[in-house]
Parts: sequence; C-alpha cells; structure tokens
Amino acid sequence: MQDHTYPLEPSTDQMRVMVEKAAERVIEHIASLPRQPASYDEHQADTLARVHALAEALPERGTDLDGLLDLLFQEAVPLSYNTAAPGYLAYIPGGGVFPSALADFIANAVNRYVGAWIAAPGLVQLELNVVRWFCEIIGYPPSSGGILTSGGSMANFTAVVTARREHLPDDFLAGTIYTSDQTHHSVRKAAVMAGFPKDNVREIATNEDYEINLDDLRRRISEDREGGLQPFMLVTSAGTTNTGAIDDLGGAADVAEDEGLWLHVDAAYGGFFMLTERGRDSMRGIERADSVALDPHKGLFLPYGNGSLLVRDPEALRRAHTSFADYMPEIQRDTDLVDFCEISPELSRDFRGLRAWLPIKLFGIDAFRSSLDEKLDLAQWATDQLREVPDMEILAEPQLSLTAFRWAPAGYAEDKLNDLNRQLLTCVNARQNVYITGTMLRDRFALRICVLSFRTHRDRMEQCIADIRECVEELAQQGP
Ligand SMILES: Cc1ncc(COP(=O)(O)O)c(C=O)c1O
Repeated sequence: MQDHTYPLEPSTDQMRVMVEKAAERVIEHIASLPRQPASYDEHQADTLARVHALAEALPERGTDLDGLLDLLFQEAVPLSYNTAAPGYLAYIPGGGVFPSALADFIANAVNRYVGAWIAAPGLVQLELNVVRWFCEIIGYPPSSGGILTSGGSMANFTAVVTARREHLPDDFLAGTIYTSDQTHHSVRKAAVMAGFPKDNVREIATNEDYEINLDDLRRRISEDREGGLQPFMLVTSAGTTNTGAIDDLGGAADVAEDEGLWLHVDAAYGGFFMLTERGRDSMRGIERADSVALDPHKGLFLPYGNGSLLVRDPEALRRAHTSFADYMPEIQRDTDLVDFCEISPELSRDFRGLRAWLPIKLFGIDAFRSSLDEKLDLAQWATDQLREVPDMEILAEPQLSLTAFRWAPAGYAEDKLNDLNRQLLTCVNARQNVYITGTMLRDRFALRICVLSFRTHRDRMEQCIADIRECVEELAQQGP
C-alpha cells in the first residue's frame, strides 16, 4: 500500500483489495461464532503477557494489511468476552446485527457532517426518521423528538442536564433526584457529572419484585420539601439491569404529575420490548414520561455505540443545549429541520443514524419484533427449566428476558450460599458454551441469564440449562 504517490490515498484497486480482505475475515469470523467459545478465560496465567505483547511503539512506516488483520483476528479479538456469540447471556447483550457494520463502513467512507442540518440535510433526515420510529415504538406523539447517543449512560446524562435546566435555577444545588435502589448506576454518575452532590440522589427502596415503592417515594419527596430542598426529577426503570424489573410507570407518572417533577424512564434495556404485545402490557404508562432512554445496542441488537434519548418536548433539549458562535454554519429556525448540535452535547460526531436505519429498512421492524418475542419465550422457558432443578430458587421471575436465580441446597449456612453460587458461576462459564454473570440481590449472590442476542435460540438455552445441571451435580458431590 506504500507505493502510491500519496500513501494516504489508496488507488481504487487498492481499496477494492482492502475491502475484500477485511470482508473475508469478518464473514469467516461471523460464520464461526456458534463454534467459538462464549468467552476467553480471563483468569488464565498468560492473559497479561498476551495483552502486554500488543503494546507497541508509534510506527514510523506502514505494515502490510494481511499482517494487521492477523494480529486483530488472531491475537486481539479472541482475548475478549464473546459479546457477539449466541452463548453470551451476560450483563445486557445485543449481538450486533451485520448491516450496522456495513452502515459504519459506508458512513465513515462517505464521511459527511451531520451535526448541522445545512451540512447534510438528506442524511440528517434519515437520522430523524430513526428518532421518529423510536418515538413511535414507545408511544410518543408526533410532536416528540430526541437524539441518538453513544449509549444509555449518555442518554441518562443528557436527561439529567435537560431536567435540571428545565426545572431548576442556575444555582441548583438544592435540587434532588429520586431513583430506586435498583436504578442503573449511570443515573447516579449522571447526577454527579451534572454538578449535583451525590447525596442529592435519593434511592427509594423497592418491593419484593424490585419495583420502586411509590408510597416511600411520596413520603421522601414531602420530607425533602419540608427540609427546604427542591425535588425536580424522578427516574424510573423499564427493565433494571439486576433483574429486568419494570417500575409501575403509570403510578410513577401520577407522582411526577402531582409533584411537578421531570419524569425520566430508563428503558435502555427494556424499551424495545414495546414492539411486542407483552412488552406494551408491562410498560403501560411509559408514554407519559418527559424523557426515555432507549438503547438500540441492547433491544434492537445493534453493535455497541448506539443509544438514544427521546423527549416529549424537543424544545426542552434545545433550551438545554443551544449555543452559537460566528464560525458556525447557519442554524435552522423551522423546528422540523433539526440541527443535532443544537439539541445535544456534541458538535462533530459520527453519522450514527445509519446504523439503525439500514437494518430496519433492510429487515423491516417485524423481524426485530419476532426476535424479541423469541427472547421473552426463551427466558420463560429457561426459568421453568431451572425450577425443575432440585433446590434451585428463582430470585426474580422474568418480567422481560432476564431471570435471576441461585442454588440453595440444604446443609449450607446462609452465609456459605454466596460462595457456593460463585463456584456455580465459575463452573458454568468454564465450559465456555455460555457466558453468564452474577449480581447481589439483597445480600444474596444471584446468577443472571439475560437473553437478548438475536443469535441466541433454543439450542443454546438447552445447552445453558444442561451446563447448569451438570455443575450443580458436580458441586453436590463435593458436599458442604
Ligand atoms: C438499565 C440500564 N440503563 C443504562 C445503562 C447504561 O447503558 P450504556 O452501557 O449503553 O451506557 C445500562 C447498561 O447496561 C442499563 O442496563
């Protein structure tokens, strides 16, 4: 690639060869995903040495593409949780649909600027279509709007800043935010980044289904008002990370209305289940929120780097973020012609809209709906199977596609069960057919299975249950 007059500008033939080589590796990689281990062994002795071997000095001269692809696909990629594989049932998966990769390739090659409407109005319109579709999915009216973000954390952060700007004066330190003890930690982080002391975030206790207790919430708000504080924001969850719990969204909307709070729903995980009938049933009331975080890199199966923040009143986003300088391009006055830099923290950024637009247009939204329905069925099926395992306790029934459980055989003191379940987790993951993770639920260590990859089907879930059963038998033989 180095024999061209301008090495940064490969010829058309060279570009073709590069694309073909990369495509061949990528397709081979994707085709082999079902046979690949669900994760690398992070505790293996040579892991650190393999990582250090990848550290390198700034290269003065170029290297052949084949060698670089070898390094990537043989050394770097295998050293990872296999987040794209069907056995990845950890944290909140998504998988990464292929057309989004194609979209990134096209968007980066075309390299247009979508921060300001005037710079690429056609492409901005495609991204606005995506925002509109997302609003429609959660039941927002046509007057709503929003932005695409890099993920749920940035969506939650933007929501906190917007709520603060809408409800509090510039001197905002008396403002208090209400969440539950199950709310994702990115909300606390967002509050601190938005300038609040961390104690201004109130964590309200949850009920036995891990849903926010609305009576406690009302009581706390009233105590805070009496103490001279300024309650201004309520953050509820539509699918918590721990157990997939969905707060009483309608009840929370009543509290927010009565108390004059900005209501934000963190639907980063659960939101796209609104495409399904079961999801719409359990998330009734979500459309009453002032803002909703919804992550396409979770429930729409897009690759990492794709979140969104939807708002009932897009002008609130503009009021919170507008800022101008003389060197900027012309800003639009018509509210239909959106300048993303005017309604979000970013100025220059990737054309991320294409990553959602291309797969939705190619497959149609019904393909996503069917896959999400399949995930709901699989989580329920796995829970039913776990119930059949002797001494298995279901700690959280799936409200969506996540089930939390632990093995609690007789003869173990309560304080030994956490260790026992950590051993169970290690044993299951060591088989490398599936990768699952754990969490603490009210002092009890729980294992979680979160089914949210479009590549996960019944065969992999059967394998998962078989691995759990085998590990339980192994540990039972060891005894307390
Ligand atoms: C419920 C919930 N909210 C927010 C986030 C943060 O999203 P992200 O990792 O995209 O920043 C997550 C991440 O798993 C989540 O599960």
